[in-house]
Amino acid sequence: MNMPAAHVPVMADRVRAILAPALGAPGAVLVDATLGRAGHARALLGDHPGLTVVGIDADEAAITESRQLLVAEQDRVHLVHSTYDQITVILAGLGFDSVQGVLFDLGVSSPQLDDPGRGFSYAQDAPLDMRMDQSGPLTAADVVNTYPADRLARILRDYGEERFARRIADAIVGERSREPIISTLRLADIVKSAIPAATRRTGGNPAKRTFQALRIEVNDELGALRRAVPAALDAVAVGGRIVVLSYHSLEDRIVKRALSERTTDTTPPGLPVSLPGSRPQFRLLTSGAQRPDDAELAANPRAASARLRAAERVLASAQGATGSNRATGSKGAIPPGPAAA
Ligand SMILES: C[S@@+](CC[C@H](N)C(=O)[O-])C[C@H]1O[C@@H](n2cnc3c(N)ncnc32)[C@H](O)[C@@H]1O
Repeated sequence: MNMPAAHVPVMADRVRAILAPALGAPGAVLVDATLGRAGHARALLGDHPGLTVVGIDADEAAITESRQLLVAEQDRVHLVHSTYDQITVILAGLGFDSVQGVLFDLGVSSPQLDDPGRGFSYAQDAPLDMRMDQSGPLTAADVVNTYPADRLARILRDYGEERFARRIADAIVGERSREPIISTLRLADIVKSAIPAATRRTGGNPAKRTFQALRIEVNDELGALRRAVPAALDAVAVGGRIVVLSYHSLEDRIVKRALSERTTDTTPPGLPVSLPGSRPQFRLLTSGAQRPDDAELAANPRAASARLRAAERVLASAQGATGSNRATGSKGAIPPGPAAA
């Protein structure tokens, strides 16, 4: 049997070092909310012989291939095909009240980018799909062929930081009226023709930002993240840690804001001491966002836009996430929705 395609885990040494103090105790549980090809998960299972990993991925191929990659650790992993905003339901279904670590490594994996059939890449011809979860309702072709020009332009500007968003949106609308746009290379050509000739020669493939924007829209990536990070923070036990790797300024802003809300004392100004319910539940482990070092950037160009933020729970919340997870390893029934694999 061929081993599945690898994904070089980004900032792996940093992730391992930050999570190490939280994951060493027997019975510790880590949620890898973006399992991918289990690059980080495998390293962490190797570091901590007593660790159990709950691995979540929206992409069924990632779950199937990780099951192969993690066969030696199968007694210590629960693999769940679901989106990460279902983390509360998933943990309840597995019988875990709280966990010692959570890792998010956002975005798209190398095997997804390199698989021409998925339509994530502007460099290979494929149907315009871009769904992380191939049972999802919306494809990139749906977006490109049905959204009004204004909405397309807004998506390209906001999610792709594309300065020629309006021109590209108008070109898409013009082209689709002649024939539906259903392939990646046709879309890439439309983008290229829509931007000024002088800018075509600089800054890499001009379709890159459009493809990123469509992927974010198709998978509701920002909405899912806004729901998932607070739910993940709720699940972390005292002494537990969360690490988030993001690759886009909008993702990083969502993470920064969610961490800031939990690490800030909300006692009204002027009071001499912190009010009990106002003390921060978490402390930041990173000041600002950390970046990969030069050696990693040279070895793995796909790490270029990575930003890492991390925090540790220092105070229990009013309900739950107080100490250790209740039922280490006990497998409850998974409620309807996410499927346990
Ligand atoms: C950058 S890769 C993770 C790679 C992984 N850390 C590794 O080392 O192999 C991101 C993964 O997150 C998954 N993903 C993206 N959005 C998701 C969501 N909303 N819920 C769950 N998984 C998601 C993708 O399918 C992809 O496999």
